[in-house]
Amino acid sequence: MNVKKATRIAVIGVGAVGSTSAYTLLLRERADELVLIDANHEKAVGDALDMNHGLPFLGRTKVWAGTYEDCRDAEIIVITAGAAQKQGETRIDLLKRNASIFDSIIGEVTKVNSHGILLIATNPVDVMSYLSLKKSQWPAHRVIGTGTLLDSARFRYLIGEHLSIDPRSVHAHIIGEHGDSEVPVWSLANVAGTELGIGNEAREDIFTNTRDAAYQIISAKGATYYAIALAIDRICTAILRDEGAVLNVSTLLEDYHGISDVYLGVPCIVDKQGVRSVMKLKLSGEETDGLHRSAGKLRDIIQSIGL
Ligand code: 2OP
Repeated sequence: MNVKKATRIAVIGVGAVGSTSAYTLLLRERADELVLIDANHEKAVGDALDMNHGLPFLGRTKVWAGTYEDCRDAEIIVITAGAAQKQGETRIDLLKRNASIFDSIIGEVTKVNSHGILLIATNPVDVMSYLSLKKSQWPAHRVIGTGTLLDSARFRYLIGEHLSIDPRSVHAHIIGEHGDSEVPVWSLANVAGTELGIGNEAREDIFTNTRDAAYQIISAKGATYYAIALAIDRICTAILRDEGAVLNVSTLLEDYHGISDVYLGVPCIVDKQGVRSVMKLKLSGEETDGLHRSAGKLRDIIQSIGL
Protein backbone atom coordinates (compact mmCIF):
# COMPACT_ATOMS: atom_id res chain seq x y z
CA MET A 1 0.00 0.00 0.00
CA ASN A 2 1.19 3.47 -0.84
CA VAL A 3 1.14 5.53 2.35
CA LYS A 4 1.06 9.28 1.74
CA LYS A 5 3.85 11.15 3.48
CA ALA A 6 2.62 13.13 6.48
CA THR A 7 2.52 16.90 6.03
CA ARG A 8 4.50 18.69 8.69
CA ILE A 9 4.54 22.34 9.76
CA ALA A 10 7.15 23.50 12.25
CA VAL A 11 6.42 26.59 14.32
CA ILE A 12 9.51 28.19 15.79
CA GLY A 13 8.75 30.52 18.66
CA VAL A 14 5.64 29.85 20.73
CA GLY A 15 4.98 33.22 22.22
CA ALA A 16 1.57 34.78 21.66
CA VAL A 17 1.80 34.72 17.84
CA GLY A 18 3.43 31.28 17.54
CA SER A 19 1.10 29.46 19.92
CA THR A 20 -2.01 31.11 18.49
CA SER A 21 -0.83 30.24 14.98
CA ALA A 22 -0.20 26.63 15.98
CA TYR A 23 -3.65 26.47 17.57
CA THR A 24 -5.25 27.94 14.45
CA LEU A 25 -3.40 25.43 12.25
CA LEU A 26 -4.59 22.68 14.59
CA LEU A 27 -8.24 23.80 14.54
CA ARG A 28 -8.19 23.93 10.78
CA GLU A 29 -6.43 20.55 10.53
CA ARG A 30 -3.91 22.18 8.23
CA ALA A 31 -1.20 19.54 8.60
CA ASP A 32 -0.79 15.96 9.84
CA GLU A 33 2.02 17.03 12.14
CA LEU A 34 2.70 20.22 14.04
CA VAL A 35 6.00 20.60 15.82
CA LEU A 36 6.49 23.42 18.30
CA ILE A 37 10.02 24.67 18.91
CA ASP A 38 11.05 27.33 21.38
CA ALA A 39 14.18 28.41 23.26
CA ASN A 40 11.95 27.95 26.30
CA HIS A 41 11.27 24.24 25.70
CA GLU A 42 9.00 24.03 28.77
CA LYS A 43 6.62 26.50 27.16
CA ALA A 44 6.52 24.41 23.97
CA VAL A 45 5.91 21.26 26.06
CA GLY A 46 3.05 22.99 27.86
CA ASP A 47 1.46 24.22 24.63
CA ALA A 48 1.78 20.80 23.00
CA LEU A 49 0.17 19.10 26.01
CA ASP A 50 -2.63 21.65 26.11
CA MET A 51 -3.33 21.17 22.39
CA ASN A 52 -3.08 17.38 22.60
CA HIS A 53 -5.77 17.40 25.26
CA GLY A 54 -8.08 18.97 22.67
CA LEU A 55 -7.54 16.18 20.14
CA PRO A 56 -10.57 14.15 21.26
CA PHE A 57 -12.62 17.12 19.97
CA LEU A 58 -10.64 17.45 16.75
CA GLY A 59 -8.91 15.32 14.14
CA ARG A 60 -5.77 13.25 14.02
CA THR A 61 -3.08 15.93 14.06
CA LYS A 62 0.11 14.98 15.87
CA VAL A 63 1.43 17.84 17.98
CA TRP A 64 4.65 17.79 19.97
CA ALA A 65 7.36 20.01 21.41
CA GLY A 66 10.44 19.32 19.33
CA THR A 67 13.93 20.41 18.45
CA TYR A 68 15.43 21.85 15.29
CA GLU A 69 16.07 18.29 14.13
CA ASP A 70 12.27 17.99 13.67
CA CYS A 71 12.40 20.68 10.98
CA ARG A 72 14.04 18.09 8.71
CA ASP A 73 10.74 16.83 7.27
CA ALA A 74 8.77 20.06 7.48
CA GLU A 75 7.14 21.45 4.34
CA ILE A 76 6.74 24.83 6.03
CA ILE A 77 8.79 26.35 8.83
CA VAL A 78 6.91 29.24 10.37
CA ILE A 79 9.16 31.57 12.36
CA THR A 80 7.54 33.81 14.94
CA ALA A 81 10.42 33.82 17.44
CA GLY A 82 11.83 37.04 18.80
CA ALA A 83 10.95 40.06 20.85
CA ALA A 84 7.50 41.52 20.22
CA GLN A 85 6.53 45.18 20.06
CA LYS A 86 5.76 46.77 23.40
CA GLN A 87 3.68 49.87 23.89
CA GLY A 88 5.49 52.89 22.46
CA GLU A 89 7.78 50.80 20.24
CA THR A 90 7.73 50.60 16.46
CA ARG A 91 8.37 47.32 14.65
CA ILE A 92 11.75 48.67 13.56
CA ASP A 93 12.79 49.12 17.23
CA LEU A 94 12.89 45.32 17.47
CA LEU A 95 15.46 44.93 14.74
CA LYS A 96 18.73 44.53 16.64
CA ARG A 97 17.31 42.05 19.16
CA ASN A 98 15.60 39.90 16.55
CA ALA A 99 18.38 39.93 13.97
CA SER A 100 20.77 38.17 16.34
CA ILE A 101 18.16 35.55 17.33
CA PHE A 102 17.52 34.87 13.64
CA ASP A 103 21.13 34.29 12.84
CA SER A 104 21.12 31.15 14.93
CA ILE A 105 17.55 30.01 14.08
CA ILE A 106 18.09 30.09 10.31
CA GLY A 107 21.46 28.37 10.74
CA GLU A 108 19.84 25.54 12.72
CA VAL A 109 16.94 25.09 10.31
CA THR A 110 19.06 25.00 7.18
CA LYS A 111 21.40 22.44 8.73
CA VAL A 112 18.59 19.87 8.53
CA ASN A 113 16.21 21.15 5.85
CA SER A 114 16.96 22.38 2.35
CA HIS A 115 13.62 21.83 0.61
CA GLY A 116 11.00 23.58 2.76
CA ILE A 117 9.43 27.01 2.77
CA LEU A 118 10.40 29.55 5.39
CA LEU A 119 7.44 31.66 6.45
CA ILE A 120 8.61 34.60 8.53
CA ALA A 121 6.29 36.52 10.84
CA THR A 122 8.79 38.07 13.28
CA ASN A 123 8.98 41.86 13.12
CA PRO A 124 10.20 43.92 11.43
CA VAL A 125 8.98 41.25 9.06
CA ASP A 126 10.31 42.65 5.78
CA VAL A 127 13.83 43.01 7.16
CA MET A 128 13.72 39.66 8.96
CA SER A 129 12.63 37.98 5.71
CA TYR A 130 15.49 39.59 3.78
CA LEU A 131 17.89 38.53 6.50
CA SER A 132 16.49 34.97 6.33
CA LEU A 133 17.02 34.92 2.57
CA LYS A 134 20.66 35.98 2.93
CA LYS A 135 21.36 33.65 5.81
CA SER A 136 19.63 30.58 4.33
CA GLN A 137 20.75 31.15 0.75
CA TRP A 138 17.52 29.48 -0.29
CA PRO A 139 15.83 30.66 -3.47
CA ALA A 140 13.71 33.75 -2.77
CA HIS A 141 10.45 32.05 -3.76
CA ARG A 142 10.87 29.77 -0.69
CA VAL A 143 11.51 32.59 1.79
CA ILE A 144 8.27 34.44 2.42
CA GLY A 145 7.27 37.13 4.91
CA THR A 146 3.72 37.59 6.14
CA GLY A 147 4.12 41.11 4.75
CA THR A 148 1.03 43.25 4.33
CA LEU A 149 -1.43 40.36 4.25
CA LEU A 150 -2.65 41.30 7.72
CA ASP A 151 -2.71 45.02 6.88
CA SER A 152 -4.70 44.26 3.72
CA ALA A 153 -7.14 42.21 5.82
CA ARG A 154 -7.53 45.14 8.24
CA PHE A 155 -8.04 47.48 5.29
CA ARG A 156 -10.68 45.23 3.71
CA TYR A 157 -12.41 44.81 7.04
CA LEU A 158 -12.61 48.56 7.64
CA ILE A 159 -13.78 49.28 4.08
CA GLY A 160 -16.36 46.52 4.47
CA GLU A 161 -17.58 48.03 7.74
CA HIS A 162 -17.86 51.46 6.14
CA LEU A 163 -19.89 50.11 3.19
CA SER A 164 -21.73 47.36 5.11
CA ILE A 165 -20.26 44.81 2.73
CA ASP A 166 -18.66 41.47 3.57
CA PRO A 167 -14.88 42.10 3.72
CA ARG A 168 -14.37 38.99 1.59
CA SER A 169 -16.07 40.86 -1.26
CA VAL A 170 -13.78 43.87 -0.90
CA HIS A 171 -10.70 43.82 -3.13
CA ALA A 172 -8.10 46.17 -1.74
CA HIS A 173 -4.38 46.05 -1.13
CA ILE A 174 -1.92 47.52 1.30
CA ILE A 175 1.60 47.29 -0.13
CA GLY A 176 5.11 48.14 1.03
CA GLU A 177 6.46 47.85 4.55
CA HIS A 178 4.42 45.98 7.14
CA GLY A 179 4.63 49.09 9.28
CA ASP A 180 4.50 52.84 9.37
CA SER A 181 5.43 53.52 5.72
CA GLU A 182 2.88 51.13 4.20
CA VAL A 183 0.83 52.31 1.22
CA PRO A 184 -2.93 51.96 0.58
CA VAL A 185 -3.73 51.27 -3.06
CA TRP A 186 -6.97 53.23 -3.26
CA SER A 187 -6.76 53.57 -7.04
CA LEU A 188 -7.46 49.84 -7.49
CA ALA A 189 -9.75 49.19 -4.50
CA ASN A 190 -13.14 47.90 -5.61
CA VAL A 191 -16.20 45.83 -4.85
CA ALA A 192 -17.27 43.69 -7.81
CA GLY A 193 -15.21 45.89 -10.10
CA THR A 194 -17.10 49.03 -9.10
CA GLU A 195 -15.50 52.02 -7.41
CA LEU A 196 -15.96 52.27 -3.67
CA GLY A 197 -17.42 55.78 -3.57
CA ILE A 198 -15.63 56.61 -0.31
CA GLY A 199 -14.73 60.30 0.21
CA ASN A 200 -11.28 61.58 1.17
CA GLU A 201 -11.99 62.08 4.84
CA ALA A 202 -13.32 58.58 5.32
CA ARG A 203 -10.41 57.19 3.29
CA GLU A 204 -7.99 58.96 5.60
CA ASP A 205 -9.73 57.47 8.64
CA ILE A 206 -9.82 53.97 7.19
CA PHE A 207 -6.16 54.03 6.26
CA THR A 208 -5.02 55.54 9.58
CA ASN A 209 -6.93 52.86 11.46
CA THR A 210 -5.41 50.19 9.22
CA ARG A 211 -1.84 51.39 9.60
CA ASP A 212 -2.09 52.05 13.33
CA ALA A 213 -4.17 48.98 14.21
CA ALA A 214 -1.31 47.17 15.92
CA TYR A 215 -0.58 50.20 18.15
CA GLN A 216 -4.24 50.33 19.13
CA ILE A 217 -4.39 46.62 19.94
CA ILE A 218 -1.05 46.58 21.78
CA SER A 219 -2.15 49.49 23.94
CA ALA A 220 -5.43 47.71 24.68
CA LYS A 221 -4.13 44.20 25.43
CA GLY A 222 -0.37 44.08 25.04
CA ALA A 223 -0.03 42.11 21.81
CA THR A 224 -1.72 41.14 18.54
CA TYR A 225 -2.08 37.49 17.64
CA TYR A 226 -5.48 36.27 16.41
CA ALA A 227 -5.55 37.94 13.01
CA ILE A 228 -1.87 37.30 12.25
CA ALA A 229 -2.44 33.63 13.13
CA LEU A 230 -5.23 33.48 10.55
CA ALA A 231 -2.98 35.21 8.01
CA ILE A 232 -0.30 32.57 8.66
CA ASP A 233 -2.88 29.82 8.26
CA ARG A 234 -4.04 31.41 4.98
CA ILE A 235 -0.50 31.37 3.55
CA CYS A 236 0.08 27.76 4.71
CA THR A 237 -3.19 26.73 3.02
CA ALA A 238 -2.19 28.36 -0.27
CA ILE A 239 1.13 26.50 -0.15
CA LEU A 240 -0.10 23.08 0.96
CA ARG A 241 -3.07 23.03 -1.41
CA ASP A 242 -1.02 24.44 -4.27
CA GLU A 243 -3.72 27.09 -4.66
CA GLY A 244 -2.16 29.87 -6.68
CA ALA A 245 -3.90 32.32 -4.32
CA VAL A 246 -3.11 36.02 -4.62
CA LEU A 247 -1.84 37.15 -1.22
CA ASN A 248 -0.01 40.31 -0.16
CA VAL A 249 3.07 38.62 1.25
CA SER A 250 6.55 40.03 1.60
CA THR A 251 8.88 38.93 -1.18
CA LEU A 252 12.16 39.90 -2.79
CA LEU A 253 11.44 42.60 -5.36
CA GLU A 254 13.30 42.68 -8.61
CA ASP A 255 12.62 45.74 -10.72
CA TYR A 256 9.14 46.20 -9.26
CA HIS A 257 8.30 49.76 -10.32
CA GLY A 258 12.06 50.23 -10.38
CA ILE A 259 12.59 48.75 -6.89
CA SER A 260 15.04 45.88 -6.37
CA ASP A 261 16.82 43.93 -3.65
CA VAL A 262 14.42 44.57 -0.81
CA TYR A 263 11.56 42.57 0.70
CA LEU A 264 8.18 44.33 0.63
CA GLY A 265 4.53 43.30 0.74
CA VAL A 266 2.97 43.13 -2.74
CA PRO A 267 0.32 40.84 -4.25
CA CYS A 268 1.96 37.50 -5.06
CA ILE A 269 0.68 34.24 -6.49
CA VAL A 270 1.31 31.67 -3.77
CA ASP A 271 1.36 27.93 -4.42
CA LYS A 272 3.41 24.88 -3.46
CA GLN A 273 6.60 26.55 -4.71
CA GLY A 274 5.99 29.46 -2.34
CA VAL A 275 5.85 32.70 -4.31
CA ARG A 276 5.26 31.61 -7.90
CA SER A 277 5.22 35.17 -9.22
CA VAL A 278 4.65 38.78 -8.27
CA MET A 279 1.68 40.75 -9.61
CA LYS A 280 2.67 44.10 -11.02
CA LEU A 281 -0.07 46.50 -9.92
CA LYS A 282 -0.87 49.56 -12.03
CA LEU A 283 -0.25 52.20 -9.36
CA SER A 284 -1.03 55.91 -9.35
CA GLY A 285 1.91 58.34 -9.19
CA GLU A 286 1.28 58.97 -5.49
CA GLU A 287 1.16 55.24 -4.74
CA THR A 288 4.37 54.60 -6.68
CA ASP A 289 6.08 57.40 -4.73
CA GLY A 290 4.81 55.90 -1.48
CA LEU A 291 6.15 52.48 -2.41
CA HIS A 292 9.53 54.02 -3.26
CA ARG A 293 9.61 55.78 0.12
CA SER A 294 8.82 52.50 1.87
CA ALA A 295 11.54 50.68 -0.11
CA GLY A 296 14.07 53.46 0.64
CA LYS A 297 13.34 53.20 4.36
CA LEU A 298 13.85 49.43 4.35
CA ARG A 299 17.00 49.58 2.20
CA ASP A 300 18.53 52.05 4.70
CA ILE A 301 17.67 49.70 7.57
CA ILE A 302 19.09 46.67 5.76
CA GLN A 303 22.30 48.57 5.12
CA SER A 304 22.46 49.73 8.72
CA ILE A 305 22.73 46.09 9.85
CA GLY A 306 25.40 45.38 7.27
CA LEU A 307 23.38 43.17 4.87
C1 2OP B 1 0.61 43.47 13.81
O1 2OP B 1 0.53 44.24 12.86
C2 2OP B 1 2.29 43.64 15.60
O2 2OP B 1 2.94 43.34 13.37
C3 2OP B 1 1.95 43.03 14.29
O3 2OP B 1 -0.39 43.06 14.40
